[in-house]
Amino acid sequence: MAPLTDEPLVLGIETSCDETGVGIVRGHTLLADAVASSVDEHARFGGVVPEVASRAHLEAMVPTIQRALKEAGVSAKDLDGIAVTAGPGLAGALLVGVSAAKAYAYALGKPLYGVNHLASHICVDQLEHGALPEPTMALLVSGGHSSLLLAPDITSDVRPLGSTIDDAAGEAFDKVARVLNLGFPGGPVIDRYAREGDPEAIRFPRGLTGPRDPIYDFSFSGLKTAVARWIEAKRAASETVPVADVAASFQEAVVDVLTRKAVRACKDHGVDHLMIGGGVAANTRLRAMAERRCEDAGITLRVPRPKLCTDNGAMVAALGAEMVARGRAASSWDLPADSSLPVTEPHVPGAQREPDAHDHSAAHDHSHGHGHSHDHVHELSKQNLYDA
Ligand SMILES: Nc1ncnc2c1ncn2[C@@H]1O[C@H](COP(=O)(O)OP(=O)(O)OP(=O)(O)O)[C@@H](O)[C@H]1O
Ligand SMILES: [Mg+2]
Repeated sequence: MAPLTDEPLVLGIETSCDETGVGIVRGHTLLADAVASSVDEHARFGGVVPEVASRAHLEAMVPTIQRALKEAGVSAKDLDGIAVTAGPGLAGALLVGVSAAKAYAYALGKPLYGVNHLASHICVDQLEHGALPEPTMALLVSGGHSSLLLAPDITSDVRPLGSTIDDAAGEAFDKVARVLNLGFPGGPVIDRYAREGDPEAIRFPRGLTGPRDPIYDFSFSGLKTAVARWIEAKRAASETVPVADVAASFQEAVVDVLTRKAVRACKDHGVDHLMIGGGVAANTRLRAMAERRCEDAGITLRVPRPKLCTDNGAMVAALGAEMVARGRAASSWDLPADSSLPVTEPHVPGAQREPDAHDHSAAHDHSHGHGHSHDHVHELSKQNLYDA
């Protein structure tokens, strides 16, 4: 079907971590999704090195924008707006995207829209399955976040029901992969090994699923430690570590808790659909178990195709286009890059609020829906830089 010409044509720029993403959409139609990743440059450190990521964004930015325009077959002068991830993410990496977006928007005379990376991970599903229902129930699972969110309006009102009190789901995949010497990032490789393994082989703990535990919060740190101890014990006894069984059993524990809590949230809030977004939503077992459990509960599942789950520019363009369609005000030229932008702020109008106004020390304070601010990435990188 040809896209309607009155739908907004928006270019989105994503640079919050190690992917330079530039996407172009017209309303809910994806026209281009160009991504340049620096993941290989970080692999030997076992985590993303912020300075390496920033420099790679700088080098990739202009060619990736040109590639996206060519792929979409549109001219920059026809754009209705330029959207950019204003946070959360790595400060230096975000700054490259925000600066580029301002430069293009100013030079072309187009409105600028600073958007939230996490809300973008949800909004991207409009490119796959059409308009999001309101409210939307979303399970956001990525390298830095694991949250259950209720969004009455993805452009202005996102409410956290619960989130991880320690590691994010993707972070747990990355750390377990490291213990198994499977390299970085861990999610895709564990997903692959798990297909050959038995998910019932080892009964790993399901965090925060006791009767007195918070219903919508997650915890993956205990699981990660349990897996590491189990592997250590095998190695100490000079026994072979059954990698596929460990991968499958670990993955099963993560996926079991995520899907159980997400379905519970839908039932409790009378929402008949569930959206899953973020890099971990690419996991094949998560997709399969969510499909089954949602079907049993009469819930419609919406998960974008794997390429749209991991970081990309199309998701930013999708949220930007929604902002334009709903007549949200453009951001001012003093739009800041905010490394710990809370999920409760999908749209960033400008610097009228100090970037430091929210408490950065509350990165783990799930009750306020604050971001993880990629602390895991820094910790991992420093540790591995010394090990390397
Ligand atoms: N198939 C998969 N199974 C499980 N995890 C996966 C899979 N593919 C990717 N991941 C995980 O997804 C994470 C990356 O997702 P994403 O790019 O959304 O995170 P991020 O942008 O670093 O974090 P955030 O979005 O919170 O800022 C990594 O931890 C990676 O291991
Ligand atoms: Mg992400």
